[in-house]
Amino acid sequence: MELSPDETWIEFGPPDARRRIGFHDYDAMYTVPGLYERVFYEELGMDTVTEVVGLYGRTLRAQGLDPAVERVLDLGAGNGISGAALRDTGVGYLVGLDREPAAERAAERDRPGVYDDYLVADLLTWSDSEQQPARAHRLTSIVAVAALGIGHIPPEVLQRAMALAQPGALVSFAVLVELMPGSTDERGIASGYPDFLSGWYPEHCEELERREYVHRRRRDGSAEDAVAFAARLR
Ligand SMILES: C[S@@+](CC[C@H](N)C(=O)[O-])C[C@H]1O[C@@H](n2cnc3c(N)ncnc32)[C@H](O)[C@@H]1O
Repeated sequence: MELSPDETWIEFGPPDARRRIGFHDYDAMYTVPGLYERVFYEELGMDTVTEVVGLYGRTLRAQGLDPAVERVLDLGAGNGISGAALRDTGVGYLVGLDREPAAERAAERDRPGVYDDYLVADLLTWSDSEQQPARAHRLTSIVAVAALGIGHIPPEVLQRAMALAQPGALVSFAVLVELMPGSTDERGIASGYPDFLSGWYPEHCEELERREYVHRRRRDGSAEDAVAFAARLR
């Protein structure tokens, strides 16, 4: 397998049937069993699942909450890596949500039974009535693992996901440092996250903990730094 130096594509397969797909073309990536894991976890050492789910689990314990009674939305669930980690933390009820139909099929193929329900939706375009099935799950936590940011879930979708949960729900997520308030990175600023994290987020959430960590390595070996958050919806 070959990754392009600028992280725009990967190539894989035998020489006579080589395939190239976009680095973030999850729809295509999830159709090949194990490919997502190989690219992001094995080649690039992505560590966000350990960080965000670890932080979420520690926060539950610190708050005296029993994971077994939590009803968690795994936002941007993909093929279920984050869901499996949440189950390992003892989460009792788990709903996945992703905009790619291929993600749901891959989660069922690779980690059958991890989710109690899996919703395929884009929350930006979901009407109030379409949101009803998600509300019916009476969610008590929203967790987003490696799913927020440029080319991924925008702040408006995270905000809508939080609105699906019960008041007082726990939220846990992470963003790259370029998306933090005060960022001078043009694409980071354009993502809307710096404004979201200095505006809507502190108004609507009581922060419980934040932690800096390395999300993964870039192709040139440098670190992609990120910040993980745990908070409670007001
Ligand atoms: C890097 S993957 C992370 C998957 C999984 N959480 C993990 O830890 O491996 C990001 C996921 O976010 C999903 N995604 C991106 N934008 C989205 C949106 N607007 N709404 C829902 N899911 C989205 C993608 O389809 C993809 O499955």
